[in-house]
Amino acid sequence: MENLKGLILSGGRGTRLRPITHTSAKQLVPVANKPVLFYGIEAMAAAGIKEVGIIIAPETGDEIREAAGDGSRFGVSITYIVQDEPAGLAHAVLTAEEFLGDSGFVMYLGDNLLQGGIEDLVANFRSGGREALILLTPVPDPENYGVAELGPDGGVVRLVEKPSNPATDLALVGVYMFTSAILAAAKAIDPSPRGELEITDAIQHLVDNGMRVESHIVEGWWKDTGRIDDMLEANRLVLGALIPRNDGEVIDSQIEGPVIIEAGARIERSIVRGPTIIGAGTKLTDSYIGPYSAIADNCEIERSEIEHSILLDGSIVQDLPGRMESSLLGRNVVIARDPRQPAAYRFMVGDNSTVGLP
Ligand code: DAU
Repeated sequence: MENLKGLILSGGRGTRLRPITHTSAKQLVPVANKPVLFYGIEAMAAAGIKEVGIIIAPETGDEIREAAGDGSRFGVSITYIVQDEPAGLAHAVLTAEEFLGDSGFVMYLGDNLLQGGIEDLVANFRSGGREALILLTPVPDPENYGVAELGPDGGVVRLVEKPSNPATDLALVGVYMFTSAILAAAKAIDPSPRGELEITDAIQHLVDNGMRVESHIVEGWWKDTGRIDDMLEANRLVLGALIPRNDGEVIDSQIEGPVIIEAGARIERSIVRGPTIIGAGTKLTDSYIGPYSAIADNCEIERSEIEHSILLDGSIVQDLPGRMESSLLGRNVVIARDPRQPAAYRFMVGDNSTVGLP
């Protein structure tokens, strides 16, 4: 299987990360200042895949095209495929039928992050002998995932999408390898009770028709970044392996532990404790940035303390009376004291936002 292609699913609605995803694709929310989607593209490139199709939704597709471009910067060529509605992962595969042709392919969910890469697994799958290879990992809450039951030889015997009574704790990780047999299987199945063409049902169809579906238990960590707690944890995990670098300006400040300071960033009379990343053009003044923070580009933080948080581009935080932690701020958010009288809280907060006061 020489010509293995890549398919990254970056459509869908992202309802669980609103309000951030009202205006932005969930696959572009940054982890350690890099869009989640890019980790998937890089994993494909590292595994020697050259042609990558990206499924996009009509609403957020343009933003994804703009961010990832033609793929040359990752060493791959990207084809964008619009899926008119998020009708399920197997529906997304069918939408990509023309791009896939009769090639085998690696499918990667655009909001998933997998440590340790996929090189060995892809090499193994290329050697042939099976119709699908799925990745599994034990989780404490299998009811939120696709769940697998394995036979005595490690082959997959049953897959159920988000079962209320899971038979095992083995969740399907969002990386799959298929031959083109999955296309016929996706055509043969019916939508699930939640109205989606499920990839789990398509894989089950392969199993039921005597095709070989193998599984591999992932060794490193894996994160589906669909919710804020998962985002923060993914951020923590990626920052945990950060290699420090300083391309910015540090004045009368203390930098402790592994910290990346990007070009044009300026840190003045502040303490930055890693692992932390400070984006290009960001200004920190009289502030404290604690471990596991990812501050994106062109933010301004003055007289404030922030820890274990993700700030997107252009956010401003000034004169916070207490420490901010475990927070996710979207683009151009302003949190600051308001000198006007009467002294009062003044919010302008989008739909489905959460503000936690001490
Ligand atoms: O994260 C692993 C889980 O991913 C698996 O355990 C489940 O078996 C699998 O169904 C999937 O469940 P989710 O509920 O997390 O899938 P979600 O709707 O979040 O979609 C995953 C990605 O695929 C996301 O980047 C959006 C994209 N997508 C989703 C749908 C339904 C599409 O591109 N098109 C779609 O139609």
